[in-house]
Amino acid sequence: MNILVTGANGQLGNEMRIVSKNSEDKYIFTDVVDASEESIAMLKKLAGEDICADTTHLDITNLDAIRDMVKRNDIKIIVNCAAYTNVDAAESNQELAELLNAKAPENLAIAMKEVNGLLIHISTDYVFGGDPYNTPCKEDQKGAPTGVYGLTKLHGEQNIQRVGCNHVIIRTAWLYSEFGKNFVKTMLNLTATKPQLKVVFDQVGTPTYAYDLVQTIMVILEDYKNSLTANLSPLTYAKSGIYHFSNEGVCSWYDFTKMIQEYSGQTACDVQPCHSDEFPSPVKRPAYSVLDKTNIKETFGVTVPYWTDSLRQCITNLIG
Ligand SMILES: NC(=O)c1ccc[n+]([C@@H]2O[C@H](COP(=O)([O-])OP(=O)(O)OC[C@H]3O[C@@H](n4cnc5c(N)ncnc54)[C@H](OP(=O)(O)O)[C@@H]3O)[C@@H](O)[C@H]2O)c1
Repeated sequence: MNILVTGANGQLGNEMRIVSKNSEDKYIFTDVVDASEESIAMLKKLAGEDICADTTHLDITNLDAIRDMVKRNDIKIIVNCAAYTNVDAAESNQELAELLNAKAPENLAIAMKEVNGLLIHISTDYVFGGDPYNTPCKEDQKGAPTGVYGLTKLHGEQNIQRVGCNHVIIRTAWLYSEFGKNFVKTMLNLTATKPQLKVVFDQVGTPTYAYDLVQTIMVILEDYKNSLTANLSPLTYAKSGIYHFSNEGVCSWYDFTKMIQEYSGQTACDVQPCHSDEFPSPVKRPAYSVLDKTNIKETFGVTVPYWTDSLRQCITNLIG
C-alpha cells in the first residue's frame, strides 16, 4: 500500500517517519519545505542513520498537485499532519488559517474520494472552545470555538465529512514531541535558564506524546488494510468518523512543568502556580480540556500510555 504523509516535517510528521521506518508499506513524506538540520539530527539519533529524512514537496492547498501526486504514486491512504498550528497568530491570519485548516483537508478528502481511499486527519480540542464543561469530553460534545484556530479546524472536519471520503478524524490536545516547537521543549529551556517561573494551574487537560498518537494511527492503518482484504466491495470503511486521543490522565500546565523539571533534573528553577489572567492571550483557552478516549480504545483496541510515562520517554530522548 502506498501512503502519503503531509506536513512530514512537523512534530507529528517526524514521528510518522520514525514509527513507519520498518513498515512493508511505501511511505512518501511531503511538506512545503525540507526538514531542518535539527530535525534530521534528531531523526538519526532516535531511528538510525538510515531513517528517511527526504521530503517530497507538496503544498496541500493545491488540489491539482495533490491529485497528480496521488495518481503518479497510486496513493490509497493520506495521513494529514499538516496544519496552521499557531493558535494566537491565527487571530490575525484568518485567511491563511482557513486555507490550511479547512480548504486543504477538503482537497485531501476530494483526492481520496476520487480513488476510494482513506484520509486520516488530525483535529483539536479547540473545536469545543469556551462552553464550560467539567467531565471528559466525548466526540458529540456541543460547543463552539472561541478563536480562529478552533473555528478553522472545525471547518476542516466539516469539509471532510461533507466530501464523504473514508475518513478517520482524530482530535488531540497538548501535543509534544522531540521535534519542532512545543511546551516540553520550551519548559526544558526555561527551567534551565530562569531562576523563577510562573505557570498556569487553572487550565487542565492531558498531554499527548506525538509518538503515541502515531502508534494509534498505525493501528488504524492496519485495521483499514484488513478491511480491504476482507473484500468489502465497494469499500465503505465502517469505522469512518471522529475520535478522541490523548495520553491517559489529567494535569494542569503547572503539573506538566513540575514533571518536566523532575524528569530533566532541572529543579533549581522555582516554578510557581498562577492564574491564566496573568498571561493575557488573544484566544480564550479551555479551562477543562480532557478528551474521553473510550471510543477510539473500544473501536480499534488501542492501549494508551499514562502521560508521565510518555513524558519521561520523550525527555530521555531529548536530553539523553
Ligand atoms: N501542536 C498541538 O499542541 C496540537 C494540539 C491539538 C491538535 N494538533 C493538530 O495536530 C496536527 C499536527 O500538529 P503539529 O504540532 O505536528 O504541527 P506542526 O509541527 O506545526 O507541523 C505542521 C507541518 O505542516 C507544514 N505545512 C504548512 N503549510 C503547509 C502546506 N500548505 N502544505 C503542506 N504542509 C504544510 C508545516 O510547515 P511550516 O512549519 O514550514 O509551516 C509543518 O511542517 C495538526 O493538525 C494540529 O492542528 C496540534
